[in-house]
Formats: sequence, structure tokens, C-alpha cells
Amino acid sequence: MDAYKIGDYEKFDRLKTRKIQENLIDWYKKNHRKLPWRETKNPYYIWISEVMLQQTRVDTVIPYFLRFIDKFSNIESLSNADEEVVLKMWEGLGYYSRARNLHRGAKVIIKEYDGKMPDTLKEIKKIPGIGPYTAGAILSIAYNEAVPAVDGNVMRVFSRLFYIKEDIGENNTKKEMEKIGQMVVSKENPSFFNQGLMELGALICTPTSPKCVACPLFMECTGRKLMIQETLPIKKKKIKVKLVEMELAVVYKDEKILIMKRPTEGLLANLWALPSIEREKNMEEGESIRLELEENYGMTIKNKKYLFEKQHIFTHRKWKMKVYSFELIRDEKIDYPEIQWISLQEIKKYAFPTAFMKVLKNVKKQEK
Ligand code: ADE
Repeated sequence: MDAYKIGDYEKFDRLKTRKIQENLIDWYKKNHRKLPWRETKNPYYIWISEVMLQQTRVDTVIPYFLRFIDKFSNIESLSNADEEVVLKMWEGLGYYSRARNLHRGAKVIIKEYDGKMPDTLKEIKKIPGIGPYTAGAILSIAYNEAVPAVDGNVMRVFSRLFYIKEDIGENNTKKEMEKIGQMVVSKENPSFFNQGLMELGALICTPTSPKCVACPLFMECTGRKLMIQETLPIKKKKIKVKLVEMELAVVYKDEKILIMKRPTEGLLANLWALPSIEREKNMEEGESIRLELEENYGMTIKNKKYLFEKQHIFTHRKWKMKVYSFELIRDEKIDYPEIQWISLQEIKKYAFPTAFMKVLKNVKKQEK
């Protein structure tokens, strides 16, 4: 059994899709949790609940949802509220842009749609804060439209059920999952089908230790058959890039500038560079590098001047480099293992890493 290949829609034959729909909907009818937003088809309530549930657990959402619809019982009352009051009702839920978007969305619906939540994909996606998932959830649950509603939980279910090895952090994978959602969604009961997928993700097809023996899709699930369900979905870690504020010095002695060889260990080891240091928090701009030159290089310098800023991205960090020039007064006791005074024409004789090369080129350009 090979992994799903993008665009391989043959995999979704009618018979298998039918089985998945029937089993899932049957299971949902018998096993779903009774939750306040499931007592209704009111698109406003569905909208509020789906937005609250986007980054927050069901147990946390329930009291917030009940208080919110009690305070703002319909789209009009939400649209008339002060933003302060809406945010107050959201206090503790986090991700406050969700509340601001709901508020803005309510105003748009009042103004542009006569107070009625749009019932087509094209229109509903124009409401602030309503992306493909929320649009699909509202249309399928409130209006029984056969459209997909694919969030992270549903992507987990799909990746196991259809053995999809693509990285779910990638936008292309999300788009593909939505196409798959469109192909498999039940035309007869899209509401229970989509909610069934959500509920399956929450109760059975959990991130760790999925309860496959209790799963209504046990027989259809390729991941389970191959016993690799727990290795799916694939989500490659995005490398976190740390922003580092650096200060660099161009120290002039007559027509020459100072370069130094970096230490034998660490980032850019053994390469030539300009004197540089990470900016000390709470210190005025340009002062960290001035102190470094005076205290660690043992120089006497004058005329600090800010020149320009350059950026460079390494694998794990991004340097924001502010470059300052200084004039040397005295250098008899420069206290650093390897230094050179060079003219700007001599730059090419030395191995400078790209970050410093960018800076040096700019210095040269400014001098012309
Ligand atoms: N997560 C996202 N939508 C949900 C819903 N309607 N019910 C339960 N959990 C959900």
C-alpha cells in the first residue's frame, strides 16, 4: 500500500467513500457529545462556537460560549456593542484578534448582508476572520451545504485514513486536504459528516494512542492497516529563527580599518570580521560596541557615527546589524589575538563571511 500521492483522486472510489460516510455518520449520531452549539443550526451560534474552538479546548469554550450568546444574542447586538465590551467577554480565552474579527465581521454582515450570515462560500469568505475552515463549518452545519471543513484534527484523521505523508504544515498540503474533504463529504448529511470528522479527531483519532479498536473507520483506515497510525500526520518542525541585534564597528586609523579574526569556536569560527557584539539590553544604541572596543580591545576612540543597518539570516538566527564608525586615537595596547589594519581595497584578500561582506561592500560604496 503506497502513500497517497497528490492528485491521485482515483483512491477515492465511490464504494470506499460511501462506507466512510455511512460509518462515520452512524457513529456520530450515537456517540457525539452533547454540546451547547450542537442544539442549534443558528449560523450565528455556529460561527461564535467555531471561532472560539479554533485555538481552545471544548471544556474551556462552553462557559464562554454561553455567556457570549447571552450577552450578544444575535449578530445585530454584537455589531452594536463597544469593542471594549466584546473584548471583556473574551477575557481569558486568548488570541484576542479572534474577538476583534468577530466584532468587525458582525458589522460587515449588518451593513453588507442585511444582517443575515451569507450562505455561499464566495460571500461568507469575505467576512473578516472567516477562512476556509470556519466557512466550511458554518455552511455545512448551519446550512447543510456539502463543503469541507478541514482543520488540524481533520488533517490528522485524513493523513491516517488515506495514508498521506505530506507535511501538514505546508499550505499546499492544506489545499490538497480541502480537495479531499470536498471529494469525501457526504451530500446527504454534510453537517453530521463534518462534525463526525471533528468528533472522531477529538475522541478516537487522537494525536497519541488513537483508539483504533473503537473507530468506525477501522476497516477503511490505511494507516491502521500498516500499523503506522501513530507516525502520522507528518509535521516538520519549522526552525525557529532568533532575532539578534548586533553592533559592528568600522574603526579608522588614517585610511585603514580594523579587522579581526573570530575565535576558533562558535558561529563563523576562524573567519575574518569587523569587531562586533550583541547589543546589551538597556544600553543606548552604539554603546555596547564602543565599550567592547575600549574595554576588550583596549582602544581609545572618538567620533562615534551611526552609518547604516544590514540584516543577515543564518540557519537559526537573524542578525540585525547596526554599523558605527569610530576614529582611533591610540592603539598601542590593542589586546586581541589576531587583528589587521587593512585598506578597503584589501578586503578581497581575506575570508569574510557573507554577513560581514554585505557590510563591507556598503562601507566601500558609501566611501565612493
Ligand atoms: N472543534 C472544532 N469545531 C468543533 C465542534 N463543532 N465541536 C467540537 N469540537 C470542535
